[in-house]
Amino acid sequence: MHEFKYRGNELYCEDVGISTIAASVGTPFYLYSYKTLLDHYDKLRDAFSSVRPLICFSVKSNSNLAVLRALVKSGAGLDIVSGGELYRARHVGADPKKIVYAGVGKRRDEIADAIRAGILLFNIESKEELEEIQRVAASLRKRVNVALRINPDVVPHTHAYVATGKGGSKFGLDFETVYGIFASRKRYPDLNIRGVHIHIGSQILDAAPFEKAIKKVLAFIKSRRISVDYFNIGGGLGIIYSMEHPQTARSFAGRILPLLKRSGLKIILEPGRFISGNSGVLVTKVLYNKTTPRKRFVIVDGGMSDLIRPSLYEAHHNIVPVITDREAGRHPQKVDVVGPICESGDFLARDRLLPPVERGDLLAVMGAGAYGFTMSSNYNSRPRPAEVMVIKGKFYVVRERESYSDLVRGEKIPKELR
Ligand code: LLP
Repeated sequence: MHEFKYRGNELYCEDVGISTIAASVGTPFYLYSYKTLLDHYDKLRDAFSSVRPLICFSVKSNSNLAVLRALVKSGAGLDIVSGGELYRARHVGADPKKIVYAGVGKRRDEIADAIRAGILLFNIESKEELEEIQRVAASLRKRVNVALRINPDVVPHTHAYVATGKGGSKFGLDFETVYGIFASRKRYPDLNIRGVHIHIGSQILDAAPFEKAIKKVLAFIKSRRISVDYFNIGGGLGIIYSMEHPQTARSFAGRILPLLKRSGLKIILEPGRFISGNSGVLVTKVLYNKTTPRKRFVIVDGGMSDLIRPSLYEAHHNIVPVITDREAGRHPQKVDVVGPICESGDFLARDRLLPPVERGDLLAVMGAGAYGFTMSSNYNSRPRPAEVMVIKGKFYVVRERESYSDLVRGEKIPKELR
């Protein structure tokens, strides 16, 4: 469920008409619904309330400060993967004791910053990383809590680029290596190995692979007599982009809670997309219609530099008109919705049935709240779009559209070239 619905012939975000926002901020822009964001967080928290989990929102899915602040204010922790995300987390006043830090390539300075900040857990992805954290901890004279990320070798049915928990992936440690680390924990005198972590992939629609991975990890801990406090079961819950039928928070919890309860461990969840995905849309304007002997194109002012998911994963995002009044009696046409970028792969939709559109019409690309703005770039020297949030009947620009001077910020022409 989300709060982007038609009222009469206009698409609204909560109580605000989207064309009003577009008239004020220009296009393209990302638009977030505060209510939808919190609803999804609450759904997950309520479904898991019997184990009182720590829900660490995955910052990489949407790192806008207003989004993070809204969730942190509601009690969420954060799942980070870089020094930059730690910086954002601190900026919004996140409790360090609710921050977990994953990622295969943590640098020494990033590790030191996170130790100084006093985060809850590092999720360890390799033995050399563990050794590095031990060295940094020793030099800072701090005791540091870590969890070992296990690659449980299960295959979720999702896009290959977002499957992380099968053998051959760069993420996590195999069971034997994990056992070896626990057996030699004395080699890490400044580290407390307090947890195990899994994250098997993203946009997973069914609880079965989660169940399988959780069972494997719990059986491993039991059979090897490993003692930990935390079990971080990662993120990855799928959402509806078009015709998917994902598990609900409640049905997901129903399947895995019995396992988790039996374990007696403190549970951490790291959802990103489940919370932010359907809380945001990308609003873009039609620049031109173009018909070639083979195809019809709708050329819009948002492209792969703003939302790369269609190009990168062939991801399907529904695209709907913001105003629908001209549609009556006009047949939908099959079109490619493409951006202005000089790449054939620059499309938001291919062979999609859309009502006829005219220059200046606004389109909303749905389900763009996760991995939308955070994966945007300045390719083709395009300023990144504005981000806007509707909160209780008002809209707020929560990130200004970049300017041309932002594009060249930090660049320098050496004296020799003047
Ligand atoms: N925890 C870890 C360790 C992760 O690597 C990720 C996502 C998450 C949690 C959150 O996953 P979520 O609940 O959002 O599925 N750019 C891709 C998705 C990449 C996911 C990377 N890791 C996309 O646009 O589909």
